[in-house]
Amino acid sequence: MKLSPSIYTADFGRLGEQIRDAEAAGVDWIHLDIMDGHFVPNITFGPLIAAAVRRHTRLPCEAHLMMTEPERYFEAFKQAGVSRLIVHVETCPHLYSTIQQLRQMDLQVGITLNPLTPLSLIEEALPLVDLVLIMTVEPGFGGQKYIPASTQRIAAMRRMLDRIGSAAELEVDGGINIHTICEVRDAGASIAVVGSAVFNDKYSVAESVKMLRAAAQQCLADEADEVRASDE
Ligand code: DX5
Ligand code: ZN
Repeated sequence: MKLSPSIYTADFGRLGEQIRDAEAAGVDWIHLDIMDGHFVPNITFGPLIAAAVRRHTRLPCEAHLMMTEPERYFEAFKQAGVSRLIVHVETCPHLYSTIQQLRQMDLQVGITLNPLTPLSLIEEALPLVDLVLIMTVEPGFGGQKYIPASTQRIAAMRRMLDRIGSAAELEVDGGINIHTICEVRDAGASIAVVGSAVFNDKYSVAESVKMLRAAAQQCLADEADEVRASDE
């Protein structure tokens, strides 16, 4: 399972060091939570910080655009060196044009939706995107609890993607930690955004990533044991 740490919960007083630690720990992407204080009741950062992050890692960066009219900032995030832009279907009334615009800019295309937005709203867009992000918390803050009903949504999205033979990544975001990573992986997620599970003041970044990987491995081992036991 790929990991995409969200710097939202990182120590911004030593952001470069935290990002280098995450890269050294073997994560796969860096997740940038862009919040405009309008679509979500919180403000984080913009292209300036995205460009600063870019200077501290060779990892690809994805920007999760929790903002209205996100197309206003596509160019700025591309200039900042972001590889993938993830837009909320709730903020893109002309989703087909928005996806085309991202394609023309040679950016990877991600779409996402809030925990109670029907999956059917993005079903017809699935053949056009590189990634679907299932929000497993209400967007706006880190450190929230995983919404248990998300597991069904992840499994339903997995079936939708498999039905059309899509190679799109299935990403999950919000409350993913050692207690939930197996559940989301078993439901069909291929990449997990992890904020407070990686950037926190209890463990180092290296220890946090190691514990996440061990948790994901452990449930694989447990499942293998169950299969062996049922075969006997
Ligand atoms: C929430 C953001 C998430 C969040 C993840 O609006 O999209 O990426 O920062 O943080 P945790 O993993 O702590 O829930
Ligand atoms: Zn996010």
